[in-house]
Amino acid sequence: MIRFDIISAVPSLLQSPFEHSILKRAVDRKLLKVQVHDLRAYGIGPHKQIDDYAYGGGAGMVMKIEPIFNIINHLKKQREYDDIIYLTPDGTLFDQRKANQLSLKANLILLCGHYKGIDERIREQLITQEISIGDYVLSGAELASAVVVDAVSRLIPGVLNDETSALTDSFQDGLIAPPVYTRPEEFSGWKVPSVLLSGHKAKINEWRYDQSIKRTKQRRPDLLKNH
Ligand code: ADE
Repeated sequence: MIRFDIISAVPSLLQSPFEHSILKRAVDRKLLKVQVHDLRAYGIGPHKQIDDYAYGGGAGMVMKIEPIFNIINHLKKQREYDDIIYLTPDGTLFDQRKANQLSLKANLILLCGHYKGIDERIREQLITQEISIGDYVLSGAELASAVVVDAVSRLIPGVLNDETSALTDSFQDGLIAPPVYTRPEEFSGWKVPSVLLSGHKAKINEWRYDQSIKRTKQRRPDLLKNH
């Protein structure tokens, strides 16, 4: 069971991603819990302010310390967290290895940034990990946090069954997954590779492995260095 507490200034962006398919099943089976918290509820003053002008000037607002500090404090009083993760484009690049590491944790806070980011003192004092999902800038980190929750949750034992096993996913063994086919055997002259119809398990595995290597060489030669 992993619990994610996601802190967001736009919680409605995270209403649906965990209510379908594999993630919904994980939630139903009590293998996953996702609680989204509205940062604005911890905002300051009558306007529930959560951002302010940057010291030193310049364009863009900065997320204030107090609301973030207060909500994290509130959460920490209820349970112990393995990590408090800030999602930011200047964080460490997220990959399958990081997803595997996080899937061994029990309680995680994901803090979603907005605007020009959060006051640096929060990063220095409270955040234990910083993650980026890629070298591009999103308007807010909500979609990034949904990506992290999805990639991690499918690795929790019991979330996937044999047919959907994460062990055959791309990247899990440092290679790209082989191509897959389903019925019909032939569609307007386009045929399924005959080895897959042979019923010969060892030959099929060998073919799949060869395809994985070939694809990885073609598409992601950088991965082969670690394989
Ligand atoms: N917030 C904005 N862009 C992001 C990214 N690429 N990864 C994580 N959080 C982000």
